[in-house]
Amino acid sequence: MDNYAVEMTGITKIFGEGFKANDNVNLRVKRGDIHALVGENGAGKSTLMNILYGMYRPDSGYIKINSAEKTFHSPSEAISGGIGMVHQHFMLVETLSVLENIILGDEPAGFAGIIDYNTCRKRIKELAFVFRIDIDLDAKVGSLPVGIQQKIEILKILYRNAEILILDEPTAVLTPRETEGLFKTLKELRSEGKTIILISHKMSEVLSISDRITVLRRGKVTGDLHTADTGKSELGRLIVGEEIADLSVKVKTPFEDTILEVKNVSIKNDRKFLAIEDISFLVQSGEILGIAGVEGNGQTELIEALSGIREIDSGTVLLNGKRLQQNDVIAHIPADRHKHGIVKEYPLYMNILLGRESESGFSTPYHLKQKELINYTDNLIKEFDIRPADHGQLMGGLSGGNQQKAVAARELTKDTDLIIASHPTRGLDIKAAKFVHEALLSERRKGKAVVLVSTDLSELLMLSDRIAVMYNGTITGMFKAVQTDENEIGMYMTGMMAKDSKK
Ligand SMILES: Nc1ncnc2c1ncn2[C@@H]1O[C@H](COP(=O)(O)OP(=O)(O)OP(=O)(O)O)[C@@H](O)[C@H]1O
Ligand SMILES: [Mg+2]
Repeated sequence: MDNYAVEMTGITKIFGEGFKANDNVNLRVKRGDIHALVGENGAGKSTLMNILYGMYRPDSGYIKINSAEKTFHSPSEAISGGIGMVHQHFMLVETLSVLENIILGDEPAGFAGIIDYNTCRKRIKELAFVFRIDIDLDAKVGSLPVGIQQKIEILKILYRNAEILILDEPTAVLTPRETEGLFKTLKELRSEGKTIILISHKMSEVLSISDRITVLRRGKVTGDLHTADTGKSELGRLIVGEEIADLSVKVKTPFEDTILEVKNVSIKNDRKFLAIEDISFLVQSGEILGIAGVEGNGQTELIEALSGIREIDSGTVLLNGKRLQQNDVIAHIPADRHKHGIVKEYPLYMNILLGRESESGFSTPYHLKQKELINYTDNLIKEFDIRPADHGQLMGGLSGGNQQKAVAARELTKDTDLIIASHPTRGLDIKAAKFVHEALLSERRKGKAVVLVSTDLSELLMLSDRIAVMYNGTITGMFKAVQTDENEIGMYMTGMMAKDSKK
């Protein structure tokens, strides 16, 4: 008889006026398996896992854990039941330290009720060592890049002795090397008999690490597969219900003007240390400059400075030959969309307005042109396939990928010469990611300059004309995309090579 850690049977979850985010879903996960849950943006993956984790109650259906029927009324009940979840959007408290975040809600009281930090610290250090997670436990979480925050989330559930681990898109923010590290950890957990449910949009990852796969489309299960018996094309078809065409061919553009010029720029981070030291580069009209690098090597500070959120310490940034001003309009798809990209409590159409309030199409000096804005939003919903197709939907009610589509739609349709795209396809399903890739190429054809930051090297190689590799606050290598490959870039990313040592 099969030994199931999780059995979800006939699960239906309805939001609002009868929208079925989960429609009679069955999910069976064998104990000791890595079970992938895949599907397009908005398919209902996070909803299903939130039900398992006790965040939502299903409208119908039931759940068995290790063959016993269970109803979790809250995450803390699920945690006591041996279930841990790392959410798609981090839930850490930014003002607290790493250590405080990990033990938050689970503080062991020592003598006289005082929290025994030393014992906690020792235990976390052991876990971090075993799972090869290298973190400064005393750093404030808010100052850390998203890649590191993800690792803290994982440590947090390991600290709570979860037997069943739910990871909602854990690799979206990781570099290929970090992902390899995470997968090693997951395999170790599996060999100890733990059960892992993994949500991911990256097919190659799903195929390489999972034992079984469940596919959701529009709330329903469309596939239940043995990983060994399937492949990329079948999986792609089950996910989006159609074939995905190849990306259009990138040809050289005829433009020559320099749009962005960065000259001997240094930038300080929040802790007032130099995050960027004396870097210089140009981006031309009709060019995509890719920026590769392990997160935390200055990319964030650079992008924030280019998009006017952070001051530069010295040097010059020129946009079309003029010094970059605070109020210059630049299209910016931010890496951390919750911090900079959206307001969850606003409806979709108001989020489309963010940063574009002064555009005459949307407002007069006296009032908002609501009808125009709503029309405009409806067009973007169609063009970018944002679901549900409802301009009044609160942003917080959209799935992660659909929030990202909305931000991309807003920024890519701004009237600017420069587009800064930080991880623009993070969290997007294969179809939506391809759409954004095509949109960036199309802006490039129109003569826009694009700075593209990504940890996905295949994405960088596919879209960029040139690739700058950042390490430790400097550019260690600058390559023509057609003349390099993932291996070479990877070496420069880890600081094993620097431009001086080349040739
Ligand atoms: N709290 C909520 N209120 C209203 N609608 C919601 C809520 N949460 C989710 N939905 C809707 O349910 C559907 C499924 O969302 P869910 O977050 O489960 O998708 P997902 O498969 O995780 O997608 P993604 O890959 O983009 O993260 C979406 O259409 C979403 O808009
Ligand atoms: Mg999700």
